[in-house]
Amino acid sequence: MPVATVELKSAKEIAGMREAGAIVAAVLRVLSQAVQAGVATAELDRIAAAETKARGAKPAFLGYRGYPATLCVSINEEVVHGIPKTDRRLAAGDIVSLDFGVVFNGLFADGAVTVGAGPVGTKAQALMDATREALVRGIDEMRPDRRVGDVSAAIQRYVESKGFSVVRSFVGHGIGRALHEDPAVPNFGKAGTGLRLAPGMVLALEPMVNAGGFDVRVLDDGWTAVTRDGKWSAHFEHTVAVTQGEPEILTVER
Ligand code: MF3
Ligand code: CO
Repeated sequence: MPVATVELKSAKEIAGMREAGAIVAAVLRVLSQAVQAGVATAELDRIAAAETKARGAKPAFLGYRGYPATLCVSINEEVVHGIPKTDRRLAAGDIVSLDFGVVFNGLFADGAVTVGAGPVGTKAQALMDATREALVRGIDEMRPDRRVGDVSAAIQRYVESKGFSVVRSFVGHGIGRALHEDPAVPNFGKAGTGLRLAPGMVLALEPMVNAGGFDVRVLDDGWTAVTRDGKWSAHFEHTVAVTQGEPEILTVER
């Protein structure tokens, strides 16, 4: 197997990715605030497109391998890559994963959050909380001389300790001059294995966590991934740089 060729980003590129990341974070905040019962997922996509344009950025997903929208909106048992639709409206108590990326001055940033349409059930809340915390645990491993397997294992260990499962068939990824770069960053794996991390690496970590089993299937639309057992799923993602010291989350508002 060829060894992944990982692009190390310069300080200048990371500065550019901070700007792209701030746009992603701001748009995800606006979208999160728009999530409520009765809203059509196509309306969220319209907001995402308008907010992207207003900030001088371009959508990263639109046209990517033929993806038809700016935003991915995945509800309840939908895991990732839900296509916004005019006839799909949120219901009270739904959990809604919003996945969004931009390119700004040639540099990409990618992020995701899962939010409730109003208050959600106890189990759904626990699923969202565990997924958000699993992302934090993974990010904390992104230090020089730790390895991709340490990140993967930290995410998996935390998720499984809460009785949930990590999706196997979609993974996190390097990011920078392209939306998806090497290395792949699975949300499961063995500590002490895989590529060694170094300052200048930028990774999009994105745990997808299922309340039931980890198996997923893709709907006939060719995109929407759903859990095989119909149980609910959550997704959080940040674009994060490895530095000499603490990991730096780039998808934050500034
Ligand atoms: N965050 C997802 C990813 O990194 C979003 C991609 S959706 C697509 O794969 F539409 F661009 F494919
Ligand atoms: Co991603």
